[in-house]
Amino acid sequence: MFSSRSSGTYERLETGQGPSRGTLMRFAPWKKFALGAVVIIGLFYVLGPSKSRLIPGSVPSIGKPDTTNVDYSPPPPAPPAHVTAPVHDDDMLPSKPNKLPTGPENDPDLSKTVHCTVPYKSSVPLVQYALMIDAGSTGSRIHIYKFNNCGPSPMYEYEVFRMTKPGLSSYKGRPQEAAQSLDGLLDEAMKVVPEALRSCTPVAVKATAGLRLLGAAESAAILDAVTKRLHDKYPFSVQEPDGVVIMDGKDEGVYAWITVNYLMNTIRSDSPARAPTYAVLDLGGASTQVVFEPVFEKSDSKMEDGEHKYELAFGGKKHVLYQHSYLGYGLMRARQSVHRLVEFMGSLRGSASGANATVVNPCLAQGTSRLVEIEDERLGGKFNVTMVGQDVGSFESCNRIVELVMAKDAICETKPCSFNGVYQPSLLETFPSGKLLLLSYFYDRLQPFLAASKTLASAPLHVSTFGTLAEQVCRGKSTWTELWGGDAALMEELEGRPEWCLDLTFMHALLRLGYELGGEREVEVGKQIEGTELGWCLGATLAMVGADLKCRA
Ligand SMILES: *[C@@H]1O[C@H](CO)[C@@H](O)[C@H](O)[C@H]1NC(C)=O
Ligand SMILES: *[C@@H]1O[C@H](CO)[C@@H](O)[C@H](O)[C@H]1NC(C)=O
Repeated sequence: MFSSRSSGTYERLETGQGPSRGTLMRFAPWKKFALGAVVIIGLFYVLGPSKSRLIPGSVPSIGKPDTTNVDYSPPPPAPPAHVTAPVHDDDMLPSKPNKLPTGPENDPDLSKTVHCTVPYKSSVPLVQYALMIDAGSTGSRIHIYKFNNCGPSPMYEYEVFRMTKPGLSSYKGRPQEAAQSLDGLLDEAMKVVPEALRSCTPVAVKATAGLRLLGAAESAAILDAVTKRLHDKYPFSVQEPDGVVIMDGKDEGVYAWITVNYLMNTIRSDSPARAPTYAVLDLGGASTQVVFEPVFEKSDSKMEDGEHKYELAFGGKKHVLYQHSYLGYGLMRARQSVHRLVEFMGSLRGSASGANATVVNPCLAQGTSRLVEIEDERLGGKFNVTMVGQDVGSFESCNRIVELVMAKDAICETKPCSFNGVYQPSLLETFPSGKLLLLSYFYDRLQPFLAASKTLASAPLHVSTFGTLAEQVCRGKSTWTELWGGDAALMEELEGRPEWCLDLTFMHALLRLGYELGGEREVEVGKQIEGTELGWCLGATLAMVGADLKCRA
């Protein structure tokens, strides 16, 4: 089952942006579009004959693009089924905590397994450990995984997780110190992995984009020092050729897809034949990712070639995946975009704008306010404004702003497009009934409501659940009290975070307008399955362990 772990910020990979990344971030393509649209709509608003739906001092309700026909009605009742437990054989995963080891502390023998006494094939060891170091920008984390070879492909048993701060990228110009910073993590692996198995235990270090920002020479020096120290000080088998690398952005999404589908038993060699795979939608702070396996029914349609296409062999099957990372569409960046747009629209209307102004923002719930820092695109620099929800906080008005931010109407060169001009096979056509798993902020924002409402938690979740909640939350405190007044934790959350209305509205728009999912489409949210984080690490390790492993001489 899915369970929670404390949330944090989602560090995402934003690779492939090259040296001009800064500029790109400041002027993402959608923005030109959105600003253009606002100028046109704003002028129309100012000059046009539109009747006033305006609450004095509020943001006008701008024309809703007619590309949408969003249905906010609640979905028809369906049998409870959300958060389905992964289908797997009892002996595959530690699903019976009282019987099966969940870590070294309750594992009777680290060099054996409780699942069988001899390996499936004589050519493979009974027990296989693997080490994956996730070198993020805030810290480095090791995942020590235990697998057994009781079946035709490695079966995951459990992981040991340790973290150290700061990250490798904090050691600019000091590659030796950077390499040494991982010692504590590897020493932990020395404690867990039995001596006889160490030389056949693969280790990989995958750095995220933070390291790339140091520049090519600096980051290469750090990676070289890490490789050398691993070889010199530890007995593990450093994977060649890409054991110590900066990970490609698309690998991250695809590895997370492997993690999810492996744990859900849809891609293992023992998975039920034709088990449909999950689509994985991840919402981080800076970017949002989608990975799924489209099915083209018609023989004349197929996936266009390009960066987005990822061919993967796993568990004896070939999978052709679509993956894309939308930079600038993470939750934190979406908030900034909405704030900038709201402020800009205010300035067009000639109401208070610029430094220290109080700006009315329909994406804040009624009666809430928040100080936000705005990057000034016109004059450069930053300034603070106070955003207030006043009495205009409303899902409908907020949704119109979010729709502009989505850049749904951006030029689409290779059809079909999801949003911002990005090619994506239609989920409706090529993934009509497959399951969708939503991760990271999707989970974090829904979780407090699931915890507060038994009705919500026991019914299946739908895309429209986000819309319904957004609508309720945007109405402000009187509605919160009415609906969730009994839940102190949720009330505290709502009162402490004025952006709840914005966040939920954006998530709904991303699913509904961005990915064109129907409101009635069932979704699942998750963060962990049986104690294992639904990130890229397990998937990357499975890809490593599934390949031909070389032991160290
Ligand atoms: C805004 O407030 C800051 C801090 O109080 C002040 O330094 C600044 O001069 C103010 N700016 C304007 C334009 O009033
Ligand atoms: C905006 O306000 C925050 C919090 O008070 C402050 O840290 C920041 O420096 C301010 N930014 C500007 C540009 O005034």
